[in-house]
Amino acid sequence: MSRTRALTLIVLSLLGIFAAYHYNRSTMATTPKLIPTSALAKNGAIVVGSGLAGLSAASQLIAANIPVRLLERNAKPGGNSIKASSGINGAPTPFQPGPPDTEFYADTVKSTGHAMSTAREHREKLIGTLTNSSASAVTWLTTTHGIDLSKVAQLGGHSRARTHRGAGGTPPGFAIVSTLLKSLKASPLFELKTSCTVNRLLLSGASITGVEYTCSSPEAESTTSELHGPVIVTTGGFAGDDTGLLATHRPDLANFPSTNDPAPGSTHLLTSVGAQLLDMSSVQVHPTGFVDPATPLSPLKFLAAEVLRGEGGILLHDGERFFNELDTREKVTAAILKNDPVEEKPKQWDVLLVLDEGVYEAAKSHIDFYIFKGLVRKTTIGDLGDKALATISEYADVVAGKHEDKLGRTAFADWELLEPKADSIVYVGRVTPVVHFTMGGVVISEKAEVLDAQGVPIEGVWAAGEVTGGVHGGNRLGGSSLLECVVFGRNAGERVVEYIKNEGK
Ligand code: FAD
Ligand code: SIN
Repeated sequence: MSRTRALTLIVLSLLGIFAAYHYNRSTMATTPKLIPTSALAKNGAIVVGSGLAGLSAASQLIAANIPVRLLERNAKPGGNSIKASSGINGAPTPFQPGPPDTEFYADTVKSTGHAMSTAREHREKLIGTLTNSSASAVTWLTTTHGIDLSKVAQLGGHSRARTHRGAGGTPPGFAIVSTLLKSLKASPLFELKTSCTVNRLLLSGASITGVEYTCSSPEAESTTSELHGPVIVTTGGFAGDDTGLLATHRPDLANFPSTNDPAPGSTHLLTSVGAQLLDMSSVQVHPTGFVDPATPLSPLKFLAAEVLRGEGGILLHDGERFFNELDTREKVTAAILKNDPVEEKPKQWDVLLVLDEGVYEAAKSHIDFYIFKGLVRKTTIGDLGDKALATISEYADVVAGKHEDKLGRTAFADWELLEPKADSIVYVGRVTPVVHFTMGGVVISEKAEVLDAQGVPIEGVWAAGEVTGGVHGGNRLGGSSLLECVVFGRNAGERVVEYIKNEGK
């Protein structure tokens, strides 16, 4: 070997060692290695959380032939989404009676309330995306996935009937979640791992490159592993995190019962990589959780679905109606809380939900289920006392058009009892306000990008569903959570398809 060639080889190997040293230094602090682009396409995407937001994102990816690994903390998939009982909003859709519904955006802005005075432009974009995509979200579920959503009801704060559910007996959350899950499981590109909790997102430089997660099993030791790829975080809210996020942001709600099973919130996954939080103190207290006569002091309540009021049901306190039952949840709850609670632990009020035979027929499958669970009983008005008979007679006159409602209610749907008597049949259950939903969460763009303190998308990560904040402000309209899951979940899925197809650029 000539002197010059030997010298060249020495210089080249020194350069190699130097480059390797620097490469290792720059990646050492931020494990793991950046994902080679070919692996991006091969490994596909990671979705964290198997509620409707996660399933919508995963469906979008699978439809584009991108592999999906979905990690779920619980033993069973579906999150809170599977419990949804009133339905999903959409406007305008062919299932809505009357002229095209153009008021959904305005109703949502109104329901958002004072929150609109901060970050207005940002909120308008999110609300615009939510409401403008609502008709196509319903079409995606009905036409692409064959889910029956043909029945509509008007819930509180809505100026039109636009909350869709099926005409049969299957509750909407279960119908939607089980159909999407079945379709995903039919794909060889889809892998669902349950009982696996994501502990942290992996960062390489400024990009998210995967997750670290721990799987538990009753038979074996728990194992901690990593997955690499772009990540969609759809971990739901923190209404069940009463010793953590809820205690931090709304300590005043500590003793309220909840419709959510106890579970820690997961916003830390995103805030630890630079995500910002919005509206964290906006927690929705739903006015009607059932007080089960068998376990009246249980902190976990079955929801008395808003659709029961939407189909014509009324609320009585001490035998009298006290508020427009179809105003927003925030306002109906505030009207109940003006009275003293009758129990302190949990804090509970004594309110009666009253339904007639017309409401029963319209929401038969719901009400039969509540009767079966002992939450609703069939009785007569006489059983509720003289004051209740007078109140129901006055409501019947309003429904019959004899005079306007002094509480301002204008929609009565299927209430048909126009001449109430002491022996008229009614269906009744005791209800009380319950912590139900968290409007706050991480700040996202309308494309479901997770934004940092400068409003810049954090590379490699997207988020959708209840883990995000800003879409609902101070009060979420009933039916808009399932909608946000579909709209922003699909948006996240679409962006990740692009990201992978553009090889991470
Ligand atoms: P979820 O469905 O809650 O799913 C999140 C999932 O992420 C969970 O399965 C959770 O276990 C998992 N997870 C969390 N952290 C981790 C982690 N670190 N690692 C791995 N997995 C994790 N909304 C409507 O619009 N219409 C309705 O009719 C309606 N009815 C409702 C009835 C009830 C009883 C309740 C409780 C809520 C209802 N809602 C309704 C609200 C709505 O169902 C939820 O807010 C919405 O479905 C949230 O969906 P999501 O996908 O964001 O979260
Ligand atoms: C309900 O059925 O009252 C819940 C609907 C919702 O939370 O959107």
